Amino acid sequence: MQARCNTTALLASGYDIPLVGLGTWKSEPGRVTAAVKSALASGYRHIDCAAIYKNEDEVGNALAASIHQGVVRREDVFITSKLWNSDHSDRRVKAACLKSMRDLRVDYLDLYLIHWPVTGNRGPDVQPPLLETWKAMQDLVCQGLVRSIGVSNFSVSKMEGLMTAPGVPLSVCQVECHPYFRNDGVHAWCKQQGIHMTAYSPLGSADSASLLGRNAQMLLQNETLLSIANDLKRSPAEVLLQWGLRNGTSILPKSTSSERIKANLASLDWQLPQVAFEALNNLDYQRRMVDGSFWVNPAGPYSNLEELWK
Ligand code: A2P
Repeated sequence: MQARCNTTALLASGYDIPLVGLGTWKSEPGRVTAAVKSALASGYRHIDCAAIYKNEDEVGNALAASIHQGVVRREDVFITSKLWNSDHSDRRVKAACLKSMRDLRVDYLDLYLIHWPVTGNRGPDVQPPLLETWKAMQDLVCQGLVRSIGVSNFSVSKMEGLMTAPGVPLSVCQVECHPYFRNDGVHAWCKQQGIHMTAYSPLGSADSASLLGRNAQMLLQNETLLSIANDLKRSPAEVLLQWGLRNGTSILPKSTSSERIKANLASLDWQLPQVAFEALNNLDYQRRMVDGSFWVNPAGPYSNLEELWK
């Protein structure tokens, strides 16, 4: 168990990020506390949260109870939260961060991410500009509230815009990544820049199919995957999580089932053979499950999906 807990990647900030974290997006209210307690007791040392998931208070209760019971110490757990779109103004960033910290019952965050390059304004440009928000994020590190900062759902060119600001580095880029959406361009650029990439929806986010509302293919039912899992006597989920680790990202499988929570952490305990890794790297079907179409508006700033992701 100890070896698993210590399996981390080094961030540009100088802190380590554990490679397997529990995702809490879409974790139903009333089930998150038990899921987080179960994860911490099983050996997870990384919990991925966000204000918009509307369950940070439940995560906070689980964390406080686990610390109180001696299951973990605060300093051993890596807690991520994310700034929501309505809080991008430099007057709101700190208050939003403090609210998440209060709900999570922590006096610092390990990682704080800008959740989307979106503020909800209409017009040609994102307002307030993303650089303003980023500078306010950097201030949180200078004030000791946050250890590392980064972004989620950003493209390379949007990250390049932020990197014009000197000072606290962009440590983490959290994006959708799995064999049905490898996100190769963002990944290669992050590697080159020393930015750690974290994969959300590493199982292909079967429960997000409704977001697309069209005939999305289910990664967990892909025939190549099923055949590899069968040959290796592993579950399809184990194979996908190993693929994510072998791909060089940290992974955030979401589950509220204590059995699956445990099983998903065990993805650290074995290695996917190269040939299987490559077979999964070559699936033709490539499509986002979380495609961001909810942010597209003819009045801008993103009048189509290309503009959002470019
Ligand atoms: P549940 O919470 O009931 O376990 P992703 O992380 O890609 O978004 O996927 C999350 C979805 O995958 C959830 O529906 C979750 O359901 C399910 N899931 C999590 N772990 C496993 C697993 N080991 N095997 C199959 N499905 C899983």
